[in-house]
Amino acid sequence: MNTSLLTLPASPVVVRPRTVERLVVGTPTSDGAGVKLTRVLTPDLQRRLDPFLMLDAFGTDNPDDYIAGFPDHPHRGFETVTLMLEGRMRHRDSAGHEGLLGPGGVQWMTAGRGVIHSELPEQHEGRMEGFQLWLNLPARDKMRPAWYRDIPAAEIPEATTPDGATVRVIAGASHGVAGAMQRETTEPLILDLRLSPGAPFAQPLPAAHNAFVYVYRGGVAIEGTAVPVQRMAILANTPGSDGVVLAAGADGARALLIAGRPLNEPIAQYGPFVMNTHEEIFQAVRDFQSGRLA
Ligand code: CO
Repeated sequence: MNTSLLTLPASPVVVRPRTVERLVVGTPTSDGAGVKLTRVLTPDLQRRLDPFLMLDAFGTDNPDDYIAGFPDHPHRGFETVTLMLEGRMRHRDSAGHEGLLGPGGVQWMTAGRGVIHSELPEQHEGRMEGFQLWLNLPARDKMRPAWYRDIPAAEIPEATTPDGATVRVIAGASHGVAGAMQRETTEPLILDLRLSPGAPFAQPLPAAHNAFVYVYRGGVAIEGTAVPVQRMAILANTPGSDGVVLAAGADGARALLIAGRPLNEPIAQYGPFVMNTHEEIFQAVRDFQSGRLA
């Protein structure tokens, strides 16, 4: 028998928690070949939430809303992180990667200099629910080779606090648990939280990192501000603040907590291309049209 003391990971102490700067309601839209989704992080928030460029939420029981999927389309200059809650999507790309994204799984794709891929549902009925987050790349990495990783649910590290909070650590670190992914420059923190009714959850955050919470079940309170379901709370970058404290409402909550170090570089976007200058965007379009993107 191992006689060493068993210790629970110490709860991180947050002394000066951030407040909610504003609540955001997503915009219903469609993308790909007609997939219905809600754009939570819209282009007007790209500077405020640098290095994050987009967050889409999708969730439907109606196959008509997702069946056409996202046929072949290009990307350049950033990374996509797809979190699946329910349903199955098959990914194929021009670099020869193929993978099946299933419930609880995450796909991390670095488009870099270019990739052409498809994301198609591998089901004809049932529920499809999840998120796609776009994470910018620093200028010096935008033209690096494409990269891809499938992370099945079982490979995503998890921590459970004595307070009744379970955190799936997709990127960064939380409660002493290193996440499935780490990125140097933007230091993304991507947490998928499941909180019992009334449970608190504290997470240290550097004050300069941009951060937001998206609630997808139940509701939370952050320093006295109620954040209802399907709302994004942008967290204030209050100087001297050291983190965020959430408390679940009476129904508990499921939420994403996302933070990262801003790049503070120019953002030039044209659809699936995100570069620093218009000239680089024109080049991406020319490369795509002439078959030299990927
Ligand atoms: Co795509």
